[in-house]
Amino acid sequence: MQNIERAISALKAGKPVMIYDGDDREAEVDFVIRADVVNPATVRWLRENAGGLLCFATTREIGKILGLEFLSEYYKRRGFHSTAPYGDEPAFMGYVNHIKTKTGIRDSDKALTIRELAKVVELALKDPEEAREAFRRQFYLPGHVPVLGGRIGERWGHTELSLILAKAAGLPPAVVIIEILGRHTEAMPVDEARELAKSLDIPLITTEDIKALI
Ligand code: 5RP
Ligand code: CA
Ligand code: ZN
Repeated sequence: MQNIERAISALKAGKPVMIYDGDDREAEVDFVIRADVVNPATVRWLRENAGGLLCFATTREIGKILGLEFLSEYYKRRGFHSTAPYGDEPAFMGYVNHIKTKTGIRDSDKALTIRELAKVVELALKDPEEAREAFRRQFYLPGHVPVLGGRIGERWGHTELSLILAKAAGLPPAVVIIEILGRHTEAMPVDEARELAKSLDIPLITTEDIKALI
């Protein structure tokens, strides 16, 4: 089976996938997993084995339905720069906690926030107004789980790549992504990440693999 087919099957089955965005962008490898299967042990595993920023990714359109806007827009209106050195605007649309979390930061809290966000996304696909109401009732901001809005077709970050993969797997746009950091205060080099992928039996795919899907 080709790596991309393995990745689609793994994501569907609730297992992690690794995505490398490319030498000309962040040059980072992120783990991706569907959000609705995330439990406290998943968050701990990602914290211990990846170490980057754990984010919930959905589409920009769903973010808007929930009443969020890109934080870059907010900061630009106040005269701040909001572009990363490689040219992209960050995908952050808000930082949220579910109201039943204790502090929001612990693995159990993040898992709860992520699973409940996945439910709100599913609701948004069926009933946008109800989803917006549910989001306001059930979450508070700022919290500890970043919500990313994917600009599919316009931007080629891990945010968008993981959402395209989710679509190919027949899943809703609700995934969790996290950068894999290395031992030397930098991101894990892609060659080392390939070794890790082999040892964990996790498919590692690239931007080119995902572009071939569309
Ligand atoms: C948001 C981030 C997040 O950490 C996340 O990994 C997604 O990144 P990107 O879509 O830029 O690759 O940096 O902007
Ligand atoms: Ca980034
Ligand atoms: Zn990234």
